[in-house]
Amino acid sequence: MAAPATPAIPTIPEYLSKVYTWAYLTPAYSRFLDTSLVVSSILWGNANRLMRAGFSEFKPGQEVLQPACVYGCFSSKLAEVLGPEGKLHVTDVAPNQIDACRTKLAGFPTATMNLADAADPRDRSYDGVCCFFLLHEVPEDYKHRIVKSLLDATRPGGKTVFVDYHGPNRWHPLRPLMIQVWRLLEPYALALSDHDIITYAPPDLAQDFVWRKETYFGGLYQKVVATRKPQGA
Ligand SMILES: C[S@@+](CC[C@H](N)C(=O)[O-])C[C@H]1O[C@@H](n2cnc3c(N)ncnc32)[C@H](O)[C@@H]1O
Repeated sequence: MAAPATPAIPTIPEYLSKVYTWAYLTPAYSRFLDTSLVVSSILWGNANRLMRAGFSEFKPGQEVLQPACVYGCFSSKLAEVLGPEGKLHVTDVAPNQIDACRTKLAGFPTATMNLADAADPRDRSYDGVCCFFLLHEVPEDYKHRIVKSLLDATRPGGKTVFVDYHGPNRWHPLRPLMIQVWRLLEPYALALSDHDIITYAPPDLAQDFVWRKETYFGGLYQKVVATRKPQGA
């Protein structure tokens, strides 16, 4: 009898090691950054509001994919929303991030953690997908691949939810500063000012979903919800 296939271990994408080694691949820095206070500061005090906006799209008992780790208490709060009957599946491409998440989710027996590249196709589907501040960190070809992979992994009736940066309104007092921060530290974030997330989806796949977008904090942030139409609709 053939042995069961071992899932392939993903390689760290080049953009991640080039731009974000300090933030995600260096355990000493990660330990310092992995707090709710840091996440709240980076998001100008909007972290809780943005998390709540994402979580409000899911219900207890659902099986939800979180395709990349998030610093602070994001995963445990999402696991609480799904409740004891629900299941949270967290994946990330960096082994140290998965290890940290495993510690944070120790009190949630139904949660699972695995290494996976969010851009790679999944071998199964979920009631929902919650993608929190990942797209702005990846180059354009990755944005296309991640959006396709996550939409593909969403069951009919389910939701793919993206919470991320957006182009701040012209009058936004933080606009000049954020543009400088993105240029210096987050070079792939600027594209989200000019491109709606729906444009990263293959058009024929995008048609299978109903799309809704809300913006927050003077347009600096957005939530995009893609709800998969029932089969045959
Ligand atoms: C989702 S973003 C969240 C950023 C946010 N600023 C925070 O508070 O954590 C960061 C995570 O994405 C992961 N990541 C980056 N590219 C990835 C990819 N292609 N597939 C899976 N995980 C990825 C990084 O390893 C890191 O753990």
